[in-house]
Amino acid sequence: MIITKAPRGTRDVLPEEAWKWVYLENQFREICNQYGYGEIRTPTFEHTELFVRTVGETTDIVEKEMYTFKDKGNRSITLKPEGTAPVARAYIENKLYAQTQPIKLFYVTPGFRYERPQAGRLREFHQFGIEVFGSKDPAVDAEVISLAMLFVKRLGIKDLELYINSIGCPVCRKAYRKKLLEYIKAVKDKLCNTCKIRVDKNPLRILDCKNETCQKTLADVPEIIENLCNECKEHFDSLKKHLSLMGFDFKVNPRIVRGLDYYTKTVFEIMSHEVGSQNTVCGGGRYDGLVEECGGPPTPGIGFAMGIERLLMTIEAQNIELPKHTPFDVFIVTIGKEADDFGVEFLYKLREAGISADKDYLGRSIRSQMKYADKYNARYTVIIGDEEIKNGVLTIRNMKTGEQMEVKTDKAIDYLKNGGI
Ligand code: HAM
Repeated sequence: MIITKAPRGTRDVLPEEAWKWVYLENQFREICNQYGYGEIRTPTFEHTELFVRTVGETTDIVEKEMYTFKDKGNRSITLKPEGTAPVARAYIENKLYAQTQPIKLFYVTPGFRYERPQAGRLREFHQFGIEVFGSKDPAVDAEVISLAMLFVKRLGIKDLELYINSIGCPVCRKAYRKKLLEYIKAVKDKLCNTCKIRVDKNPLRILDCKNETCQKTLADVPEIIENLCNECKEHFDSLKKHLSLMGFDFKVNPRIVRGLDYYTKTVFEIMSHEVGSQNTVCGGGRYDGLVEECGGPPTPGIGFAMGIERLLMTIEAQNIELPKHTPFDVFIVTIGKEADDFGVEFLYKLREAGISADKDYLGRSIRSQMKYADKYNARYTVIIGDEEIKNGVLTIRNMKTGEQMEVKTDKAIDYLKNGGI
């Protein structure tokens, strides 16, 4: 039994990386607050039925990828493979529909999918997401997309591509499905095995098959974007207008259909071309039937989710330096036993004063203590030896400039604070 290895497709985040996660989370929380979104936290697991009904019985997620098990009460439980259905469930359960609309929510969540792990694809991954309930206005679609775009821009990420599409409403999609099936019937033999199965189960998914032969075979397929009803067409035109007003570059990609069944009208993806085949950093869209499907009142909605691991891969690929993290600002260097005891006392005083500080606990030499402080980018070292204790002073060294000052012990904290700590 291997117990020194985490399950396949999961990973540890160690301190040297965890601060980046915290930085991204803080940035995401900040932008969501600026846009007027409130945080929601939903459980890690839900009743399986929630995902079957909303994500869709014939999708890859529900057919092959869910972590589903019976609990001790014999209920079928599933670790959430995505965040939207749980938020829609919470919207109904907590009667958020009875409050003033729209309801704007954001979340940071793990997701679980039993996929074949590869770079950018994990079995436990993490998402930033937002969901807006209660407005059909295409300006909200544009707002949701703009939040994602501004977030990545603030992180310093460049060259991401925004693709949008509309997959219509149940009315126009029904008519389109018929047209699509007529076309596909004639070319079915040329399609890959997965698509052959999709013909009966989920024909729209054939459109975004990555298989080259399938793509060639579908070169002249009728596109859904050309077959929208008036309402969906107007909605899409208005979305494009709003995105242009905000100055976003975007491409209409009629083949984006997304892998979840709840979408209606707008769908979109933000792609990074630097992170290999798993290059969709963000995906989202409108889901005007989702709340009703879950048993709530008819309520339009739209949102997105962004993969945190893929975001970090893009940041790394583009050599973006996130604001450097220092585990502590001040490091106490002590010489001798008495000084060390005094160091313990002074360290607590620094921490009590809200200063991030640390000291050596391994009996290192002065040289090694200085090296350690340097390695972790301490801004100041406080050097304490017998002389210092006798004279009631501390030697404070600015690690950047190399300047050293003797400061009275009772003034040391003020000195450090004046020095920008
Ligand atoms: P999704 O396209 O399934 O949409 O996932 C959104 C993002 O989560 C992906 O673009 C990717 O960055 C990340 N992601 C998904 N699966 C994995 C994985 N196995 N490993 C690493 N990253 C992954 C949704 O989840 C929808 N709930 C989005 C949404 C919100 N639509 C409306 N509101």
